[in-house]
Amino acid sequence: MISATPHSGSLLTIDGLPISEVASILSLTTHLASLPVPQRSAILTGRRIALLFYESSTRTRTSFELAAKSLGATTTLVSDKSSSIEKGESLKDTGLTLRALGAECIILRHPSSGSPFLLARATGLPVLNAGDGMAQHPSQALLDLRTILTRLHLDPSTVHAKSLSGLTITITGDILHSRVARSNAMLLPRLGAHVILCGPEPLLPETAHGLSDDIEITRDFDQALSRSQIVMMLRIQKERLAGLDLDLAHYIDHFQLNESRLVTHAPQALVLHPGPMVRGLEISGEVADGPQSAILDQVANGLAIRSALLVRALGAQA
Ligand code: NCD
Repeated sequence: MISATPHSGSLLTIDGLPISEVASILSLTTHLASLPVPQRSAILTGRRIALLFYESSTRTRTSFELAAKSLGATTTLVSDKSSSIEKGESLKDTGLTLRALGAECIILRHPSSGSPFLLARATGLPVLNAGDGMAQHPSQALLDLRTILTRLHLDPSTVHAKSLSGLTITITGDILHSRVARSNAMLLPRLGAHVILCGPEPLLPETAHGLSDDIEITRDFDQALSRSQIVMMLRIQKERLAGLDLDLAHYIDHFQLNESRLVTHAPQALVLHPGPMVRGLEISGEVADGPQSAILDQVANGLAIRSALLVRALGAQA
């Protein structure tokens, strides 16, 4: 079966997800978190969820898996390292196999941009994109949004087109390879935020493809910091660097978020990082563990948001 349109419970990209839908996911997240454990753990009883991971993952995979289990679902993990994917089986055949085994929803992480669309069309199942190549990481953008709103004492359930008006958010680091940056840069301006992307030319080419014109690009991190209420740091994705020449000492000097830079330019700013962090490179240990860091809130919000995405995907009553 090849279906023309992906299942409506899918989340394939953040692009085009209506703000009303963002608000409804955030409101479902709050509702689920407020339920007593016995009630929450029965919502997906008897449902089967497959996690299909072609790239390594700690936070995203574990949070989807724990979210599914805490809602009562049965999960199975298929990873490229220990399955017939190693033998050359295609994404489509793997998806159809999982469906034939009773999977009702597939969570996919894959190195090729657009692969969640292919899987959704091939299987007709709801597919949740857990990161596709350099393209999208929609659940990360939603958990980052929940973290920002909660830290600013704004109600996530009533999010609207002006919720983040007046806020400047700087995203610094390996923008080129970052699906996290791309998803956030698509979502945050739609809620009124001003987004600045910052990094050296090799990691942030002048033309940032597919992003709106009102996104600012700068090489001056200190200046961007001094205008920001929120700063999001990104790892340099060595696994995707192929051929790019980067002077790490220069990078650390100009783009590392360390204590002295933060104290001097943004003593009040909220610090985010999607993980995994490389301490001592893009961020110092003191900042990562410091009072301005919301990095572990992001992790906790990952579990909460992904619970809502699973309930939405399976059309369950909560
Ligand atoms: C990121 C990813 O895989 O896109 N991590 C995550 O999901 N939290 C970022 C990265 O790998 O650096």
